[in-house]
Amino acid sequence: MCFRNFFKSKLQQKLQTPEISGNNQNQHGSVHEEEAKKIENNINIGEEKTDMQTDEKDKTTNDSKDSTTSLKQSGNNKGKPVDLPEEMPFIDGNRRGRVIAIANQKGGVGKSTTAVNLSGFLGELGYRTLIIDFDPQSNSTSGLGVDKNQINKSIYEVIILNENPWSSIIQSPYKNLYIIASSIQLAGAEVELVSAMKREYKLKQAIDKLKDSFDFIIIDCPPALGLLTINALTAAGEVLIPIQCEYYALEGLGQLINTINLIKENLNEKLKITGVVMTMYDSRTKLSEQVIEEVKAYFPEKVYGTIIPRNVRLSEAPSYGKPIIDYDPGCKGAVAYKKLTEEVIKNEPE
Ligand SMILES: Nc1ncnc2c1ncn2[C@@H]1O[C@H](COP(=O)(O)OP(=O)(O)O)[C@@H](O)[C@H]1O
Ligand SMILES: [Mg+2]
Repeated sequence: MCFRNFFKSKLQQKLQTPEISGNNQNQHGSVHEEEAKKIENNINIGEEKTDMQTDEKDKTTNDSKDSTTSLKQSGNNKGKPVDLPEEMPFIDGNRRGRVIAIANQKGGVGKSTTAVNLSGFLGELGYRTLIIDFDPQSNSTSGLGVDKNQINKSIYEVIILNENPWSSIIQSPYKNLYIIASSIQLAGAEVELVSAMKREYKLKQAIDKLKDSFDFIIIDCPPALGLLTINALTAAGEVLIPIQCEYYALEGLGQLINTINLIKENLNEKLKITGVVMTMYDSRTKLSEQVIEEVKAYFPEKVYGTIIPRNVRLSEAPSYGKPIIDYDPGCKGAVAYKKLTEEVIKNEPE
């Protein structure tokens, strides 16, 4: 193994250890001040690079322009060309182009479950939807039954190697639902991005090429506030925050809101919190009720009316590689995600 690869694989191993990837925040949500400074620093440094960034942007755009047509047909899963049917009916006359990042630096709060099931219902309701799995753990990739060994190109190649995003789109088996898969290489992307020009805008540059062709682009974020999540929040117009109904629910939220505000000030002034969804509600405990009240006080007007219950069918579905709409469309979890989807469609922030 050459030195560079050795070094890279070591870094990848390190990134999977909790204290570096940010996963240590998962359990209690406490975030170091140092981490906060790092995020602030990431955002500020990014701002200073304007001239060179523009050059690189032009280069990327030209590279991809050359190959768009062929790549549109070659991105595939199991040999199936991704062919977005031009005749597909537009709801309301044009594509909505809503880009929604599902973010919370805590792990296990229901980000991937929400991303997969929201996307599944959006597709079912007739909206052309793309889910971008932006977490190296690839939970939404596997949750949609995409075989990791059959992925030609993942989001890693798009943001790090500047591959045309069209070449990485996979058609899912579900109606109107497309996916750009993740891969474990993405774990190293945080480090690789540090020296990249325009590093906070990598995902945005890719999404800007796709936006007009989709009604919804849903980004499943990793459980950390590093450069990947910063990329997602820079690319998105909206952020949807899942919060688990548990004792530590509010811990770490301040840090998330700070990050969102910093991104609004420095990288993406259009970013809006589209809504907060309470997940894993347990009607047998008083605690769930109290947590919802606290979160409502923290985010006035932002908490969706639909509460996602703790439902065993929702937790089983990913192991079959199916969204709930396919696995058990009649279960409580499915009914709740359908209602949430309708709320998301209706409440587009201005
Ligand atoms: N409403 C729910 N009811 C029961 N289990 C759930 C529910 N939502 C998520 N889970 C399970 O909880 C775990 C964490 O959810 P996940 O969506 O992967 O969280 P995150 O993406 O935030 O890390 C998974 O095993 C998932 O199947
Ligand atoms: Mg996840």
